Amino acid sequence: MDKFLIWGGEKLQGEVRTSGSKNSVLPILAATLLTDEPSTIKNCPWLKDVDTMVEILEAMGVRVDRSFEGTLVVEPAKLASHEAPYDLVRKMRASIYVLGALLGRFGKAVVSIPGGCVIGPRPIDLHLKGFTELGTTIEHRCGYLYAEAKELIGREIFLGGPAGSSVGATANVLMAAVKAKGRTVLSSAACEPEIVDLANFLNRMGAHVSGAGTPIITVDGVERLHGVDAYEVIPDRVEAGTFMAATVVTRGKVTVKGTEPAHLQSAISKLAEAGAKIEVTNGDVHVDATGELKPVEVVTQPYPGFPTDLQAQFMAAALLAPGMSFFVEKIYPNRFMHVMEFARLGADIRIDGNRAIVHGVQRLSGAPIMASDLRASAGLVLGGLAAEGSTTIHRVYHIDRGYEDIEEKLSKLGAKIKRVKSN
Ligand code: EPZ
Repeated sequence: MDKFLIWGGEKLQGEVRTSGSKNSVLPILAATLLTDEPSTIKNCPWLKDVDTMVEILEAMGVRVDRSFEGTLVVEPAKLASHEAPYDLVRKMRASIYVLGALLGRFGKAVVSIPGGCVIGPRPIDLHLKGFTELGTTIEHRCGYLYAEAKELIGREIFLGGPAGSSVGATANVLMAAVKAKGRTVLSSAACEPEIVDLANFLNRMGAHVSGAGTPIITVDGVERLHGVDAYEVIPDRVEAGTFMAATVVTRGKVTVKGTEPAHLQSAISKLAEAGAKIEVTNGDVHVDATGELKPVEVVTQPYPGFPTDLQAQFMAAALLAPGMSFFVEKIYPNRFMHVMEFARLGADIRIDGNRAIVHGVQRLSGAPIMASDLRASAGLVLGGLAAEGSTTIHRVYHIDRGYEDIEEKLSKLGAKIKRVKSN
């Protein structure tokens, strides 16, 4: 397994470009299955999770051409199977997106049930509720979901769950609803930019979706959808937010280019509270963190609240800020795997239920630490950049799932980071 060696203490400086959004491209790739015509998707990040989704499509007989950098051409004409096997689904929970798309295309699907997840229980009850209300019968057998609908029929469906809206359930049910007969109204729908991106893609396919980005999405079902030419995926707000936090961690000065600042408002305002000077020009966010750092209070919430996917990175930014910072995790109450690894760097953090209380320390000191999930790993990289001496991060395959060329991008900003490949 590859590891990262980081020699901390360098202030990041310069410019870094944001890649396309992982959490947009995954449902969009699934949505390409809704037609037999080819689609071309641009600004695709080169990531392990994208590889996994491509493998799932290929396993079903879909041809995917990746000859042009950042572009995927998906040709689903020879889609021969409606089954997503365990061996692929277990690698990535977002594989469940093919369920909605296959139901929309064929009225049936067999998809392995996603298993456990290190960031906490991640049920799919809301996905199944939505499909059932559209007229699907779902049976659980031998670790698989067997879903079948004679006809999908539009309905009013409430998608709210204990933590509020669900991104995955909204995207998945939306993909089935675009082919349902009549009108579907999804209420308590997720408002995340990735849902808007998926809805835009579906509308380019010929679907009639309105209200995406609000809690009420209306879908008027259509019989046929077609392929999409040159659809451009939105910039990755979590990657951009990670580089912004990395700038604060190292007290540097960086321009994060090619972002959609409107998607980053909660992160931008938190960094301003943390003492960074932020300027936004067009799609670029300039972060100047050369001044004093201040403690912050972060509460993760569905969009437009502060994203859970940036909690670990912003905690890294608070480790050296004088005073007490508070983190309340409302989406995944146990998503604190990074905390014990930060402690190995000398951080002072207490956990109380779904809260973490960070007492800023004067210095962190490099140590061997272990990545546990994608965003926790990003937090650990930032911790390593802030620590004195060298930090080794084991199991960086987690970070490869969602960050394109992270070590090259950080190196260009002046970080001392090196990947050690395993044989
Ligand atoms: C998406 O996961 C993202 N993944 C996650 O990013 C992100 O952390 C999460 O949304 C929250 O923003 C992708 O987009 C591929 P949810 P998803 O359904 O859709 C509960 C990353 O690192 N819930 O919005 O699985 C759930 O337990 C990943 O890129 C139910 O109760 O998240 C959670 O508390 C990690 N029942 C809350 O809703 C359900 O049926 C939000 O989860 C579904 C969810």
